[in-house]
Amino acid sequence: MAGQTIILGIESSCDDTSAAILRDFEILSNVTANQSIHEQYGGVVPELASRSHQENIVPVVESAIKKAGISISEIDAIAFTQGPGLLGSLVVGASFAKALALSLNKPLIAVHHMKAHILAHFIDDDNKQKPSFPFLCLTVSGGHTQIVKVESASKMTVIGKTIDDAAGEAFDKSAKMLGLPYPGGPLIDKYAKLGDATKFKFSKPRIDGLDFSFSGLKTSILYTIRDQVKFNPEFIEENKFDLCASIQRTIIQILMDKIEKAVKETGIKQVAIAGGVSANSDLRKALESKNKNGWETYIPKLEYCTDNAAMIAVSGKFLFEEKQFVNQMISAKARLDW
Ligand code: KG4
Ligand code: ZN
Repeated sequence: MAGQTIILGIESSCDDTSAAILRDFEILSNVTANQSIHEQYGGVVPELASRSHQENIVPVVESAIKKAGISISEIDAIAFTQGPGLLGSLVVGASFAKALALSLNKPLIAVHHMKAHILAHFIDDDNKQKPSFPFLCLTVSGGHTQIVKVESASKMTVIGKTIDDAAGEAFDKSAKMLGLPYPGGPLIDKYAKLGDATKFKFSKPRIDGLDFSFSGLKTSILYTIRDQVKFNPEFIEENKFDLCASIQRTIIQILMDKIEKAVKETGIKQVAIAGGVSANSDLRKALESKNKNGWETYIPKLEYCTDNAAMIAVSGKFLFEEKQFVNQMISAKARLDW
């Protein structure tokens, strides 16, 4: 239809290869190949991730175009994740996007992965209410934990961040201590539902302002396990569900304390969550329960919480409107400023 923009989004910042087709703000397809290879190593192995991206990128993009029911020539622009992330992984998506843009003679758009997690809230979806500006967003993923003041699609300010581990890392490292495979977040979430969250008490950080810290919690969990296993080698197995529930409760409390503080300090009561950890069922419940305090909360659909190309395509749409295109000299960046 005339006037509508079709954008191909490509995401390859970590271990998911994803491609999506967006028509204006509507997702026509969002295809992701996950890499199960990392489970056995207890974390993402960068070189294996890069190799899998190389294997997956063409089939994933082909499949996204096919599912969307469009032809490749209808694509108006190509948006890709420039960073932050694993350099070798990013380079695969960036190089592919550059080559495709060159061959189709279409504009190329570089997207910031963390901003994209936030902008996923603007995907048109079943009349889901979208936040209006300004709003606060708690972005919680495997590599980041931030409170962002979002004044427009392009004006975002980080007002709080972790000084050590990210919330996703806290989940994954705790899971590793319990002998669970990577990524541990979803498993802790699953087992927490079967346990008593008040059974174990772990220390919570005392950090000023809106910053977070999770390293003390990690040590506290490690010491509890070490001390108990001395007396009972079966301690972890016998207490797996209660440990998961107690760990999850502590992480969610740390996150909620700071977002409550941010609401008080900024006076902004529209609050969104984004990033992989926003898939966590207790975090979703904790945020939703704040509606009774006059907050307006925004919780992404599960498929748009963890890494996906739909969020890259929607960010690309905003940048397309502003004609913020990049040239063939663009390069992927493991670290990328806001
Ligand atoms: O955003 P994401 O997919 O990738 C990064 O950009 O890092 O986030 C991945 C993180 C992992 O640490 C994973 O354990 C965590 O999100 N995660 C969860 C859940 N689902 C994914 N953590 C807690 N509960 C979940 N249900
Ligand atoms: Zn992410």
